[in-house]
Amino acid sequence: MSTLSPLTRPHVASAARSRQTTGYNPSYWPAEQHMNPHPQQRQIVLGITGGVAAYKAAHLTRLLLKEQVAVQVIMTQAACGFVTPATFQALSGRPVLTDLWDERIPNRMAHIEASRQADLILVAPASANFMAKVSTGLADDLLSTTVAARHCPLLLAPAMNREMWHNPANQRNLRQLQADGVRILGPASGEQACGEVGEGRLLEPEELLHQVLRQLQPQPLAGRKVLLTAGPTFEAIDPVRGITNSSSGKMGYALAQAAWEAGAEVVLVSGPTALPAPPGCTRIAVRSAAQMLAAVQEALPGTHLFFAVAAVADYTPATPAEHKLKKGKAQLQITLTPTVDILAHVAASPNPPFCIGFAAESQHLAEYAELKRRRKNIPLVVGNLVQRALGSDDNEVILFDDHGAHPLAPASKTHLARQILAHAMALAFPAFTPDKVLP
Ligand SMILES: Cc1cc2nc3c(=O)[nH]c(=O)nc-3n(C[C@H](O)[C@H](O)[C@H](O)COP(=O)(O)O)c2cc1C
Repeated sequence: MSTLSPLTRPHVASAARSRQTTGYNPSYWPAEQHMNPHPQQRQIVLGITGGVAAYKAAHLTRLLLKEQVAVQVIMTQAACGFVTPATFQALSGRPVLTDLWDERIPNRMAHIEASRQADLILVAPASANFMAKVSTGLADDLLSTTVAARHCPLLLAPAMNREMWHNPANQRNLRQLQADGVRILGPASGEQACGEVGEGRLLEPEELLHQVLRQLQPQPLAGRKVLLTAGPTFEAIDPVRGITNSSSGKMGYALAQAAWEAGAEVVLVSGPTALPAPPGCTRIAVRSAAQMLAAVQEALPGTHLFFAVAAVADYTPATPAEHKLKKGKAQLQITLTPTVDILAHVAASPNPPFCIGFAAESQHLAEYAELKRRRKNIPLVVGNLVQRALGSDDNEVILFDDHGAHPLAPASKTHLARQILAHAMALAFPAFTPDKVLP
């Protein structure tokens, strides 16, 4: 099993059904202006309201398109004072809608057509004014009317000055929106465009992207726990020196992300990396192999899938020096003792989770990976060549299981992560079909 069929999209099926019932006829629009010329493609409405953070929506649009998500932008009048529709038309490849009375829409009901074509509506940034309007059902422009007329999920990513955010009326509106089933993304805390510091920053486009991707796919791992290790370990020689390796952690982080997108509760035990914590995941930062083992043991109860992706040191200095070692003329010998094999330890535990190991080899990949799988008695090993994998954004892997070797085409670690996860889920949960994750 090395290829995946396209995403199954329940909301899209319902959107297609409703197209038939609302009398929408795509032939009215010139081909390039169809809201969604490829009915199988995921599509969202991206609403932009009037705030300084509107510029971040441009980057978000690009990220969404890179993930094959079609974007129909709707802007409020105030948003057009911050960024121009021309920018978003160029980025999304579609006319931007701003006007409730848009004459280009054949039945003049842009507010209905836009939301019927969408798998979800994301408003980012969402102004305090817009939150107030949606919380009371006010519909006095195209975006608020589209939101009022939707039958798909609504996600709002607020962005505003910290005082505006904490204003009692805004907090009251927030509670009402949550009670109405609107998903609120953020806001983050930090330095604001006005120079103040506090809560009210728009989430970063990358985080918004992951939230959208999670919302767009079914959640086959809902109610399941996924535990992962990622990154290198660092074995101290003295207080400032140590033995480590060049693992970047990217593959493990991408898998954590994919598991979270598929609905899992995700715990990521990470060695030292420069990567930001993946959204939605609990990250436990560790340094040494011994600390990683302890963190894994603590997080293990209730785990359904365990991905051992970290490049864990096989040996550690037997007695790290208490103080910094001084330079001398004599040879220095460091005695190393073997570390505990975390994957083998978990696989041998009573009632173990479904275990997935990673084999990074510099030669004889197939032979060593399969040997590792049998020796540790684990059902699935992902083999990759260190020359290709370490530090890189993309990779080329072969999956080894009881049915043989399954090479995956070279791809970004993000896309490989989804395929590896689909393969693991199909083995671990036989009722699962692999078309239930993103392509
Ligand atoms: C320079 C400037 C920056 C603004 N930034 C924000 C902001 O970050 N968040 C917000 O909620 N409102 C902000 N506002 C106020 C909104 O633009 C204003 O409430 C507007 O009516 C929102 O309209 P809309 O919700 O229809 O887009 C700002 C206004 C100005 C003039």
